[in-house]
Amino acid sequence: MNTPAKIEINAVYKTFNEGAKAIQALDNANLAIQPNEFVTFVGASGCGKSTLLRMIGGLETQSSGEIRVNGQPIDGPGVDRAMVFQHYSLYPWLSVTDNIKFCRQLKAHSRDRTSADVEKAAGRADALLHLMGLSHVPTAYPNQLSGGMQQRVAIARALMSRPEILLMDEPFGALDAQTREVMHDLIRHVHRIEGSTIVFVTHDVEEAIYLGQRIVLMAPRPGRIDTIYEVPLPAERNQDMKLSPEFLALKREILVRIRETSGMKTDLEQLERLSAQANQSEA
Ligand SMILES: Nc1ncnc2c1ncn2[C@@H]1O[C@H](COP(=O)(O)OP(=O)(O)O)[C@@H](O)[C@H]1O
Ligand SMILES: [Mg+2]
Repeated sequence: MNTPAKIEINAVYKTFNEGAKAIQALDNANLAIQPNEFVTFVGASGCGKSTLLRMIGGLETQSSGEIRVNGQPIDGPGVDRAMVFQHYSLYPWLSVTDNIKFCRQLKAHSRDRTSADVEKAAGRADALLHLMGLSHVPTAYPNQLSGGMQQRVAIARALMSRPEILLMDEPFGALDAQTREVMHDLIRHVHRIEGSTIVFVTHDVEEAIYLGQRIVLMAPRPGRIDTIYEVPLPAERNQDMKLSPEFLALKREILVRIRETSGMKTDLEQLERLSAQANQSEA
């Protein structure tokens, strides 16, 4: 028997608003994501990436169609799925360690928590501090940390309940390029160690290729899945691969397709026409 898909997206449509103001955010999205896969979603802004991710997270409902996790239709958020957003969303009044421990699952069961549970949680928090390179700042408060360090705490907190699925929406979008590179290697390490299935949304093509085993290219108006690419890189990656011919060829292919599908090409053509006209009238 085949292993069932971790996440199945079947004929999913989403419309925001009604009548003249209706926005077709997703038009017939179909995709199966396998256990322990690392899938990246890339595309111009407004093509429905966040909407689809939020639906997998159970934070948004589809207008029609179905999303299944482990074969079961999604019914709201669950501890099997954790989300990380661009904004770190930490509790400023809690230390790094307490932020990490403050997870939904522990809170939900706090009444019947035993001392063994507390010990287990402390052990897990410790392991995550190490995994995320935070073991030297356990008592620091978020405002004492750089953006990169704050996002490490947010990821550690998301991992606390051992989610099977990690949903990340442009989590490194606010970080500088160097910090982002470090985070890329870190999140790939987390993927290996934790064995989670990762769905990662970005508008950065290089990030999408470096991280993903498969890239789902989305296109706007209506928001839809346009093309799926297999990334021709080995499982073990390093920053030098970003300059390899396979990497650069895929990057070019995806950038061209984004331009084609997002209307950018027409904008550029229009600009060229306008400047040609301007040149003519000057001559
Ligand atoms: N809550 C909402 N109400 C109305 N329109 C929305 C809402 N959320 C998203 N949209 C619209 O749906 C489309 C897809 O948005 P989104 O999923 O955020 O795209 P992306 O993450 O790819 O930039 C956009 O046109 C956006 O304006
Ligand atoms: Mg978005």
